[in-house]
Amino acid sequence: NQLEMELEAIEKGGYEHFMLKEINEQPRSIADCMRGRLDAKNGRLVLGGLRDYMNKFQNADRIIITACGTSWHAGLVAEYLFEEFARIPVEVEYASEFRYRNPVISEKDFVIAISQSGETADTLAAIELAKSKGATIFGVCNVVGSSIPRATHAGSYTHAGPEIGVASTKAFTAQISVLTMMALKLGYQRGTLSETRYMHLLNELATIPSKVERALKLDSKVKAIAAEYKDSRNFLYLGRGYNFPVALEGALKLKEISYIHAEGYPAAEMKHGPIALIDQEMPVVFIATKDSSYEKVVSNIQEVKARKGKIIAVVTEGDTTVRGLADHVIEIPETEEAFVPLIAVVPLQQLSYHIAVMRGCNVDQPRNLAKSVTVE
Ligand code: AGP
Repeated sequence: NQLEMELEAIEKGGYEHFMLKEINEQPRSIADCMRGRLDAKNGRLVLGGLRDYMNKFQNADRIIITACGTSWHAGLVAEYLFEEFARIPVEVEYASEFRYRNPVISEKDFVIAISQSGETADTLAAIELAKSKGATIFGVCNVVGSSIPRATHAGSYTHAGPEIGVASTKAFTAQISVLTMMALKLGYQRGTLSETRYMHLLNELATIPSKVERALKLDSKVKAIAAEYKDSRNFLYLGRGYNFPVALEGALKLKEISYIHAEGYPAAEMKHGPIALIDQEMPVVFIATKDSSYEKVVSNIQEVKARKGKIIAVVTEGDTTVRGLADHVIEIPETEEAFVPLIAVVPLQQLSYHIAVMRGCNVDQPRNLAKSVTVE
């Protein structure tokens, strides 16, 4: 009815869709997530939920991360973060596989369950299983008071605010923000991160909201790219290192709201199969920021170009090499390699959003999908 429609319009805050609102909220939601936790100037980082379990965390033999969908992608980013900064081995598991595999778990394992809704049935069951084996369970959730935070020993909320669009956007960047703070804290406490490096990273992390704000300004450019490729049947997303999970997330966003088939791959795996798909009809989205795998990604771009694939590349501001090779470049602000996913995912969210709108899809409530999957 009329009243409901008006209420919804108010909730959308002037945006056409919740997803667009939530994409644009990210500078604020990331800042909200860090507020009261990160005080970069004074070198302080406090995660209240971690305090009582820091000992267990620091001395864990292994970190097991379990989640589904986009939250699982955040877990993959965290695998790189924890291993790089804290030097503890990490396994990232789909909750649905983990719970039925009779996994080896002990009291020395620290299990992190990631969930926006806090209600995902498989994630909840994975938690119960790990708990029964004596592991410590830590939740990274958005919805306060939901089932997962109640089932865990401790946790940190993401404080992204309500996410209404079925496609997760601001919850994803908030999850990564919490996991990044956890990894930095852990690395510092364990002595695997030096004081100066730690301080530098804290200060850089504090700049992320404003860099995401700058990335959001790419919207009109991304929209023009969307118009050119909206009728494509397939998309490939490629990235390496920290940007491999970003490639997976970009592909998932496109699939779920535009119904275009898309695959995310680690760029180097391309030559083990997906390269056969490439022809002039295939748009390939590269995340090719200036980082430790940059040169290698550039050669992957050359391989796609040689096969006439259409190249859309997310690059670091000022990059000229990729500009000379790609059909389109999207320049994002430079940051520490470990923090790039927080920025690089933004234009991919925008790309899927615009393509879906242009195709007339129901962006906020895509077919066959529910916001939280409470059945297995
Ligand atoms: C994300 O865009 C999806 N709608 C979906 O993969 C989601 O991330 C997954 O179902 C996990 O949900 P959760 O974070 O609420 O547990």
